[in-house]
Amino acid sequence: MAEVWRLRQASWDAHPGPARSAEALGALEAGNVLLLEDLGFETRAQEAPLFTPAILGSSKNASFDPASGRLGGTTASGADAALLGALMARFSESAARLVDRLFPRYRGQVMRARASFRPAEIAGRRTSWRKDDTRLHVDSFPATPSGGRRILRVFTNVNPDGRARTWRIGDDFEAIARRFAPRLRLPLPGSGRLLALVGVTKSPRTAYDALMLQLHDRMKADEAFQRQSPQTSIDFAAGTTWLAFTDQVSHAAMAGQYQLEQTFLVPVAAMDDPDRSPLRILERLKGRALV
Ligand code: SIN
Ligand code: FE
Repeated sequence: MAEVWRLRQASWDAHPGPARSAEALGALEAGNVLLLEDLGFETRAQEAPLFTPAILGSSKNASFDPASGRLGGTTASGADAALLGALMARFSESAARLVDRLFPRYRGQVMRARASFRPAEIAGRRTSWRKDDTRLHVDSFPATPSGGRRILRVFTNVNPDGRARTWRIGDDFEAIARRFAPRLRLPLPGSGRLLALVGVTKSPRTAYDALMLQLHDRMKADEAFQRQSPQTSIDFAAGTTWLAFTDQVSHAAMAGQYQLEQTFLVPVAAMDDPDRSPLRILERLKGRALV
């Protein structure tokens, strides 16, 4: 079972020290959630107008690409877009510093991907089962294959009314992978490259990515698994930050509004124990290389 592992740290720039850092990394790589209860993210008074789902239009989240500075998923324009871009850039930078300070082991090997702002209430939101993040799942991106790299995410609850964000977290990746592995089919040779060629994906979808997408879908579609598999509920209070390898930790967001998130990609080779990665676990279960 995934558990919550607490680290006392009140700054985005603090170094926990080698011993504490190694412990935190071990907890994270083992598939736990690392909770920093004393670490909130400060928003500014002039940013208050951004705290409404109205900035989303029909999107689920607003996104920010730190490489280009480009915003997505928002109807904000003009001064509001500039304000939103600045807020997300600031969070993105803070999250990158945090990961750099917390995990010297990964230094120089972490790629900063997109950030998101999530101003919509989760409870009661209507979506297709595949997009329904209130169902337990592991993360896998249909259009941007990870190629086996780990998905490390930093989340901060920035709810201005002090409301928690409620998650469920579930069983270990290995247990879940064993349950679903017999039903996960290896893709046809060449199909991953074809998807990139026709523009469905940004790079060829590896066998690993194909299996992870199926796992994501199988988990969400399985009502018995959703109800009966081992799981616990956690409330992440407003003004707290947490980190998880969300390709590994089974999770579901049940309620809450206003969250910032930054995604990082970490090569399996950078891990202290690569054998714990979903890539190596699926390779053992399938008996072949997957990237
Ligand atoms: C998810 O990654 O499934 C959603 C997390 C969240 O929005 O709290
Ligand atoms: Fe998710």
